[in-house]
Amino acid sequence: MNLPNSVIIKEVGPRDGLQNEQAFIKTEDKIKWINMLSNTGLSYIEISSFVHPKWIPQLADALQVAKEITRNDKVTYAALVPNERGLQGALEAHIDEIAVFMSASESHNRSNINKSIDETYPVLKPVIQGALEAGRTVRGYVSTVFGCPYEGDVAKESVLSVADKLFELGISELSLGDTIGVANPKQVEDILSDVERHFPKEKIALHFHDTRGTALANTLVALNMGYSRFDSSLGGLGGCPYAPGASGNLATDDLHYMLDKMGISTGIDRTTLLKAAQFIEEKVGKKLPSHSMQAERSSCSNHKA
Ligand code: HMG
Ligand code: MG
Repeated sequence: MNLPNSVIIKEVGPRDGLQNEQAFIKTEDKIKWINMLSNTGLSYIEISSFVHPKWIPQLADALQVAKEITRNDKVTYAALVPNERGLQGALEAHIDEIAVFMSASESHNRSNINKSIDETYPVLKPVIQGALEAGRTVRGYVSTVFGCPYEGDVAKESVLSVADKLFELGISELSLGDTIGVANPKQVEDILSDVERHFPKEKIALHFHDTRGTALANTLVALNMGYSRFDSSLGGLGGCPYAPGASGNLATDDLHYMLDKMGISTGIDRTTLLKAAQFIEEKVGKKLPSHSMQAERSSCSNHKA
């Protein structure tokens, strides 16, 4: 295998994880959790979204969360921003990296941000420009790269065209989203082979959801092709409320386990990471779906027995 020596894990749990939870996690608990995550060795945490609170009520406290967390200099704190109104909030909150987002399929774009794909660029253009002028970096997300909940298969040309336009507008990294967790390893190889003809690998991240259990297999294919940036959510929390059937992201704890055992460094301390997972498990009030957390629970009960 042709594997990288190190990988950057981008923790999206406080945003992608919590946006899909039924319960509103108390602001003080979000802050405590992000503070715990900041001390795990993670270098990147997406902490919330400056979207309309009617659309994502779970993250309506983005400004307070961003203002009250204890920042670690070694961590980049990011947040999702859909428009200029969101950018104002993110700048006021001193967010380091602005993440803009759209989809490769029309129906998901419409259901998620209430616009067609073509109507979205003029909205994102001033967001990206404004963020760059304010000295922030900008990351882009393209959703439904591997399949759409409404349209099924998504043409590679749509993915490449959205990616091209977002880079043209000034993003420095693009995250390719398997929004509803339908990707398979062969498809990942196929799409990434095209992507690498257009964009440098260092500018691409992979954002797998594990709805059907293929996220680690997909990750392995991408690793073997030389990709080294992966989004994941601690404990496997997550999903998009505007993508029916979307469930948890690739779990950070499972990704970390695999990379660590393969000798690929991430800078993350496992014990601290698992403590942060136990904390949020208690707060969401249900067992987290990651394999690592299941293994933790069974080793605790074996130990007690
Ligand atoms: P809209 O209704 O079309 O917005 O929503 P609008 O521009 O027509 O404005 C309507 C009202 O909303 C106005 O207020 C605005 O001021 C207000 P009024 O004048 O009526 O009183 N408004 C806002 N308020 C607060 N914050 C804002 C904001 N913007 C407008 N930022 C909008 C368009 C984009 C705002 C809406 O559709 C929205 O918030 N969508 C967010 C959806 C979302 O967060 N989805 C989940 C994240 S994406 C995801 O999970 C996928 C990902 O993980 C990758 C993957 O897995 O593929 C990233
Ligand atoms: Mg997602």
